[in-house]
Amino acid sequence: MRVVRAKDYDDMSRKAAMIMAAQVAEKPDSILGLATGSTPIGLYKCLIKWYEEGILDFSAIRTWNLDEYENLPRTNDQSYYYFMHENLFDHVNLPEGATHVLNGMNPDAEAECAAYDAAIDAAGGIDIQLLGLGHDGHIAFNEPQDDFPAGTHCVELNPMTIEANSRFFASADEVPKRAYTMGIGSIMKARKILIVVSGKDKAEALKKVLCGPVTPQVPGSILQFHPDVTVVADEDALSLI
Ligand code: GLP
Repeated sequence: MRVVRAKDYDDMSRKAAMIMAAQVAEKPDSILGLATGSTPIGLYKCLIKWYEEGILDFSAIRTWNLDEYENLPRTNDQSYYYFMHENLFDHVNLPEGATHVLNGMNPDAEAECAAYDAAIDAAGGIDIQLLGLGHDGHIAFNEPQDDFPAGTHCVELNPMTIEANSRFFASADEVPKRAYTMGIGSIMKARKILIVVSGKDKAEALKKVLCGPVTPQVPGSILQFHPDVTVVADEDALSLI
């Protein structure tokens, strides 16, 4: 694992965006695995700026997102579909049909998840997977549990995750209790992984991910076994290491 130390959130966003941008420049038809949450927003802003300045071209890029809430319409401003359009897709030249977000409205979770995995495999697999980190060490929506789930699947969200994500909803009651997410196995298949972490409230989780034992109780700790991971974290997030 490579750890890139950033001064603060803006510095983290810029440094991580440079890694993404290098991927897009080096391989213009890359498959990007994308993430939601507040942490990658600054990175997406950098990519949009560099696109507007003519530095980046997304015309041959395809993207697959990590996860989506169950049963939240795409028109809901808290759906990850909406988030991605708002924070990236609508501002760069990604062609229609090049972006993929799980359809949490499909009541057949198994079929939805299996088709998603098959589509990623058929496209050739993910070149670089962007990740954030949950307070309990989760990546995508893979919560602490007794095993590492392989493929895309439906999960029950942890009370801690519901609480953390309730800041975006009117109340915790409105946060969906389930989600569809890529599995740990799907994430580990990506050729490169880029994880962005910011803030003192993530320091404990990041310490466990980087320095603790590899255990499904800290899902992000599996990244210690991936051959090509770059962690871009700010000083606050790295403060316990
Ligand atoms: C959600 C998402 C994760 C994300 C995490 C942290 O649970 N499913 O993909 O990494 O939140 O989000 P934030 O960056 O807002 O702290």
